[in-house]
Amino acid sequence: MCAMAYKVLFTTSRGIEDIVVQELTSLGLEEARPRLFGLDGWVWGFIDEPITLARICYKARTIYRGLLILAEGEVRRSQEGLEDIYQIVKGVDWTDWLPPETTFCVRSTRSGRHQYQSPDIERISGQAVIDRIMEQTGHRQKVKLAHPDVMLRVDVTGEKCVVGIDFVGEEALHRRGYRTYDHPAAINAVLAAAMIWASGWKPEERLVDPMCGGGTIVIEAALIARKVPAGFFRKENFAFKTLPYFANLNLDDLMFEWDTCADWSVSAKLFGSDISPKHIAGAQLNAERALVADTTRWQVLDAAELPKLFPKSSVKKIVVNPPFGVRSGSVTRAKEAHRLLLQIADEVLSEDGKIVVITHHPEWLEMLTPVLDFAIERQYDVLHGDLPAKILVIGRKKGSKQSSEVKSS
Ligand SMILES: C[S@@+](CC[C@H](N)C(=O)[O-])C[C@H]1O[C@@H](n2cnc3c(N)ncnc32)[C@H](O)[C@@H]1O
Repeated sequence: MCAMAYKVLFTTSRGIEDIVVQELTSLGLEEARPRLFGLDGWVWGFIDEPITLARICYKARTIYRGLLILAEGEVRRSQEGLEDIYQIVKGVDWTDWLPPETTFCVRSTRSGRHQYQSPDIERISGQAVIDRIMEQTGHRQKVKLAHPDVMLRVDVTGEKCVVGIDFVGEEALHRRGYRTYDHPAAINAVLAAAMIWASGWKPEERLVDPMCGGGTIVIEAALIARKVPAGFFRKENFAFKTLPYFANLNLDDLMFEWDTCADWSVSAKLFGSDISPKHIAGAQLNAERALVADTTRWQVLDAAELPKLFPKSSVKKIVVNPPFGVRSGSVTRAKEAHRLLLQIADEVLSEDGKIVVITHHPEWLEMLTPVLDFAIERQYDVLHGDLPAKILVIGRKKGSKQSSEVKSS
């Protein structure tokens, strides 16, 4: 651990914590630990100085939020828990973060069973901040509910309470700022990026999404290949920008400096197709807005036709979000789309190729994988919106017909 260490907490989608640890470690997070205290969707670690947290929040693709932790503690689930929260928040010395003329507000997320709600936590915590500062300095800190200078978070999960400075703000980081066309069942960009990490894709390999909708997966892959920070298109939308703690820094200049890691000349073999012309037109718009139209190809195509475009074994990764058939569309058609995916994967994937699928119906793929000599190599239990889903990483079984054909040819 570094000499002057700050503890930080990142929130993410439940189930992808291990992927988040890999990404954040590559961005300089130290001692990254997933699911500490058994808490899903939380990744902890240490950084050397607060500005490092701003940089990580600006660059990371697999997180929703980053908090600088100022206090933690145990809270009761009964009404008395609010008194516990008050004491934990009041125990923090806020003066470094909240100089006199600055405004603040408290946001809270709560999960588990408690005899109080998030608005109660926000109210009692706000009062604790005001009381503490009043006792210390004699002035009353101003609350501003919309666009405050400083956004505090007091999150309660089970009996654990965490108090920190939110570096991200109202809009979590899955809102990338490049989506012009909103597909009705678009995948959240954080999950899309996690699927690409899970596939082990390298930018020189061909990646295909044959049911691409508005193109999120392919666009995320293009931005990963070009090392573009996830915050690139939402520069104005970070809570760390208004923190008085950074008043002496020019954050616009810093963000431009962080952008220099991007290499816009990288050209990757990325292909997205969908049966719907409307969605493909939307994907193209999104790709233009994300400045990756020059490295992505889009086509209206029934996925069944994919092998006509890509010869046998020519694709390394298929990363795809097929229809779930839950809220719209028919279950029969969704089931058929799952079957089709494995069939085309069998035709176009290379011997060491992988197909990564996010699905609400893993059983449809589990049934078919052995028949087609595929095996599920890894799975992640996630939430897609509020639906339980799995990300499955599927590869060919060792010694399968395809791999022995390739070896003997
Ligand atoms: C869940 S959506 C994908 C959303 C996308 N990941 C996004 O972020 O916008 C599934 C897509 O599969 C497409 N689809 C369904 N059956 C197909 C088929 N046989 N061939 C190609 N696309 C198909 C639908 O048109 C729909 O856009």
